[in-house]
Amino acid sequence: MSVIQSIRGELERLRLIRHKYPSEQELTKEPRKAARVICIASGKGGTGKSIVATNMAYMKAREGMRVLLVDFDAGMANAHLLLGVAPKYDLGHVMQGEIPAKEALADGPCGMKLLSGGVGRHALVNPTRRQLDRLFRALNPLEDDFDLVIIDHGAGMGYATVAHLAATSTLLLVTNPEVTALSDGYALYKRANMVNPDIRVGLVLNRCASEVEASNAWERFRGASQRFLGHAPQYIGWVPADPGVSRSIARREPITLMDPSSPAAHAIEGVAQWAPIDYARTQRPFYSRARSALR
Ligand SMILES: Nc1ncnc2c1ncn2[C@@H]1O[C@H](COP(=O)(O)OP(=O)(O)OP(=O)(O)O)[C@@H](O)[C@H]1O
Ligand SMILES: [Mg+2]
Repeated sequence: MSVIQSIRGELERLRLIRHKYPSEQELTKEPRKAARVICIASGKGGTGKSIVATNMAYMKAREGMRVLLVDFDAGMANAHLLLGVAPKYDLGHVMQGEIPAKEALADGPCGMKLLSGGVGRHALVNPTRRQLDRLFRALNPLEDDFDLVIIDHGAGMGYATVAHLAATSTLLLVTNPEVTALSDGYALYKRANMVNPDIRVGLVLNRCASEVEASNAWERFRGASQRFLGHAPQYIGWVPADPGVSRSIARREPITLMDPSSPAAHAIEGVAQWAPIDYARTQRPFYSRARSALR
């Protein structure tokens, strides 16, 4: 064997070893720990999404998680009002590239962070796909800094919401027992499954007068979903209509903070324990998936 051949053989052996065993640099490099991401949506407006989202964010932060709430009711945001926070920046500033997403966060109770959706900005209410793509790209680095990201959506099924539904592993559908809310909730559930067949969906019936009213409404939803789609969401539970919720809004404090023993706070606490929240991670970072869904 010539010298050149033996050097070649040695180089090949080293190459194989290098591929078989990770380098020191690879061993010390932490795998990317993307946050769990859950979306909260409903189809119809005013069903209680923001009440559930803000209380859940607060409760999970109280448990010790690093929580980010993104108010994606862009242009008509109100999570900051429910949390008693006055954000300096919002999604609009991030979308326009005026500030990095990490610097646009406001402090909420118990160390949770809020990325506000901004109020009355036209560009946020009707963003182009290109603007949304830029925004999603800017939001991507946030996932590394949090254990849980909760995204509170506005009513309807605009393409920003649909892109989120396509990207998320976990959706919390918040509806109420009225037939209009059930019908819009069903439409959103159907759409979510069309764009994301692997999505895990949990349903919350908010503002119910009684357990009987809640279970009748759930039966109607479940029956229609099973009949027409062949599957149904998971029933997480129901939240009673509680005058304490209005008082907590007036006080600008989540009801789980203001009055933890109230019926609504107690029920929302149960909703926050929904097990799939703990494994709501996706293989690829959430906002890369959302960007792909825009195309
Ligand atoms: N469990 C409850 N008991 C009593 N009132 C409630 C309850 N949940 C929500 N509400 C009332 O419903 C209103 C709407 O709630 P919320 O803002 O959470 O709805 P939303 O689904 O986020 O609305 P939007 O679609 O406009 O974002 C609240 O301002 C509050 O007055
Ligand atoms: Mg809302």
